[in-house]
Amino acid sequence: MVIFTMLSENTLPPLIGQSVEFLASLDQVSKAANLNRPLLIIGERGTGKELMAARVHFLSGRWSEDYVTVNCAALSDNLLESELFGHEAGAFTGATKRHIGRFERADKGTLFLDEISSASVRVQEKILRVVEYGEFERVGGGQPKTCNVRLIGATNLDLQEQVKKGLFRADLLDRLAFEVVTLPPLRARWEDIPILAQHFGQNMVRELGGEQFTGFSMQAMQVLMQHSWPGNVRELKNVIERNIHYSASSNNDANVFVDEIKLDPFASPWRPQATTISNNEPVAVKQNKALPEPRIDKSFIEQVLIFERVLLRRAMDDKGQSCANAARSLGLSYDQMRHYLQKHKLLGKRKTNTG
Ligand SMILES: Nc1ncnc2c1ncn2[C@@H]1O[C@H](COP(=O)(O)OP(=O)(O)OP(=O)(O)O)[C@@H](O)[C@H]1O
Ligand SMILES: [Mg+2]
Repeated sequence: MVIFTMLSENTLPPLIGQSVEFLASLDQVSKAANLNRPLLIIGERGTGKELMAARVHFLSGRWSEDYVTVNCAALSDNLLESELFGHEAGAFTGATKRHIGRFERADKGTLFLDEISSASVRVQEKILRVVEYGEFERVGGGQPKTCNVRLIGATNLDLQEQVKKGLFRADLLDRLAFEVVTLPPLRARWEDIPILAQHFGQNMVRELGGEQFTGFSMQAMQVLMQHSWPGNVRELKNVIERNIHYSASSNNDANVFVDEIKLDPFASPWRPQATTISNNEPVAVKQNKALPEPRIDKSFIEQVLIFERVLLRRAMDDKGQSCANAARSLGLSYDQMRHYLQKHKLLGKRKTNTG
């Protein structure tokens, strides 16, 4: 799990996009880069918050200093506190050596706090103090330390809503919200889909040692354009890479062409089905009293499941909860009976011996 990284400008992947919405956020980020103020980047998962944050740093006057990132959601409250502010030797059990925190390491540079909403209100208070006065204390240390760090926070939550729930400090939000960049989801900038897809396709073909990526069929592109991309650019990247792999491995040609897009890697006739139907089950069925009337306007699978369940319950009740006898009366093998009971989560307290 990566919780801390030092990026350099050369290792940053390029930001791709040409839609008006995407270019507007790039422009906002570029203008904000040189302001020596905190910045908040908000956006759904996979919209490129991390890439944008790095861009801010490398476009700012701090570009030659350290760019330090911490994922606040990856650490427990105490660990996050000592990771951010450092600790003195002996500050807590296991703290054998002094640890320099990320604020100190990012001095003169930029600190990117990803998923900042995950920091506890107590840690938020300490963050606010650094933002306001450039001052903090290492855990277990009495001496105030100073640092000059530009803070960038990112989240996919509605922070104003978090404030209302008492989960985020209003004063920290005020401070961070000097400039707020809200990244548009991919579905709001569909013009970017073909160029992003082309870019990820080319990279993947290169990675697989192919010669050239020759593009997508009309049908494949249509699938890409019609999907709603809840996982945004990350989801698109994964779909393209997976489909390049499928095309490259089913074809010996060094030129890769994607004819068909498979969106869901879990799609399979053997995919385990959700077998619990209790929420939709009528009370009479739950109580094993009646079979529901077959209906042609309701799910076939759901109705068959209810039918199975009632049969299993009746047979088990009739045979004094003996799995073997119930199996015999239904014309099933013992193993088949156990399989069905398991599927309907009815196996729990039943008698499964042959008696
Ligand atoms: N405009 C873009 N051009 C090229 N690649 C992009 C772009 N936006 C995002 N990506 C890629 O999509 C993936 C997700 O981006 P990133 O990690 O920055 O998103 P995020 O908003 O931080 O997501 P999360 O909220 O899940 O942490 C990364 O592989 C990133 O390189
Ligand atoms: Mg992120």
